[in-house]
Amino acid sequence: METKLTAQQRYNVRSTFGLMEAPETAEIPGLAPGLTGVPPCDNTYVFDAERMRQLTMFWVGGFKALLIEGDPAAGKTSLIEQWHARLNVPLYKVPCSPTTESFRLIGQLLPTEDGKLAWKDGPVLKACREGTSVLLDEYNTLDPGEATALNMLLEGYSWTIPETGETILPAKTTRFFATQNAVDSKAAVAGRNIQDVANDDRFSYMEVDYLKPELEEALVLRHLLAGKVDKAVAEQISRICVKVANNVRVAFRQDAPGVDKPLSTRVVLRWAKYTVMYQSVMKAQNRSGLHYAIRQAVRMSAAMAGAVNEQITAVAGYDEDMNS
Ligand SMILES: Nc1ncnc2c1ncn2[C@@H]1O[C@H](COP(=O)(O)OP(=O)(O)OP(=O)(O)O)[C@@H](O)[C@H]1O
Ligand SMILES: [Mg+2]
Repeated sequence: METKLTAQQRYNVRSTFGLMEAPETAEIPGLAPGLTGVPPCDNTYVFDAERMRQLTMFWVGGFKALLIEGDPAAGKTSLIEQWHARLNVPLYKVPCSPTTESFRLIGQLLPTEDGKLAWKDGPVLKACREGTSVLLDEYNTLDPGEATALNMLLEGYSWTIPETGETILPAKTTRFFATQNAVDSKAAVAGRNIQDVANDDRFSYMEVDYLKPELEEALVLRHLLAGKVDKAVAEQISRICVKVANNVRVAFRQDAPGVDKPLSTRVVLRWAKYTVMYQSVMKAQNRSGLHYAIRQAVRMSAAMAGAVNEQITAVAGYDEDMNS
């Protein structure tokens, strides 16, 4: 069913995105609450000022398509999702894969109960009609030939459905977002394609890096405090986990031996939570919960586990057996 758009509504940047450095009166246009397809709000989400500025310029500048690139779990998908959640704009998220065919995105003829065929809009066409947004997740896993089928719509041109003859003119507020891990990222992710130049050319571009340390720390802290962890303990764990993660990211980028991938925000969050859970059990055995928990939080090669262990010891000030 087509989402009927309610009235436009303007949202104050400071109060809506928790961004205190924004000018007091700055506003971003969104929609009145209550539409289906709006992602749920994650109240622990932290908005970074620079990412917000870039996204705002894209949004208010009347641009149509934005490609977001960054390392695994840097925060690409969640940024777009939480942006829409706060502005109450429906977002149709489509996971792309090498076997995703363009008709799954655009639409197709499907059999009806009475044995006839009827056209059914895919998420891309649905957003074009409604003026809502589509997120094509892991876009560069899509076959370049299939991606090319989207070119006209990405640019806002009218488009005729060959099967029905109906012509669709994308609504002005329709926006396309594509997220992907860079093909040339050091955290090489298998199975990524390079889309053809014509397709690439239609997208504005934004790079998303891991959060700044103070923001990532605030995020981990919020998660721990939400789990009723003692404040002093939560602060200490957040500080150590984020510091270690950033040291490991630097080591990874500098090709340090054994460090074959960065520690993502996703892993840091899991690590901090496991640390809280294991800490007292491990302490009773005179062992470090921090060192133990990282191995439950993520699979690492033996060499990487060794390198990360050393980083934890250096930052925490004690080793696996609690020796300082
Ligand atoms: N700014 C942030 N505030 C709160 N949580 C964040 C933030 N950035 C990332 N996260 C958390 O980190 C995890 C990974 O984020 P997300 O899924 O957006 O990454 P991604 O870049 O899309 O990853 P992938 O490349 O694996 O698709 C999520 O659990 C998300 O909630
Ligand atoms: Mg993602």
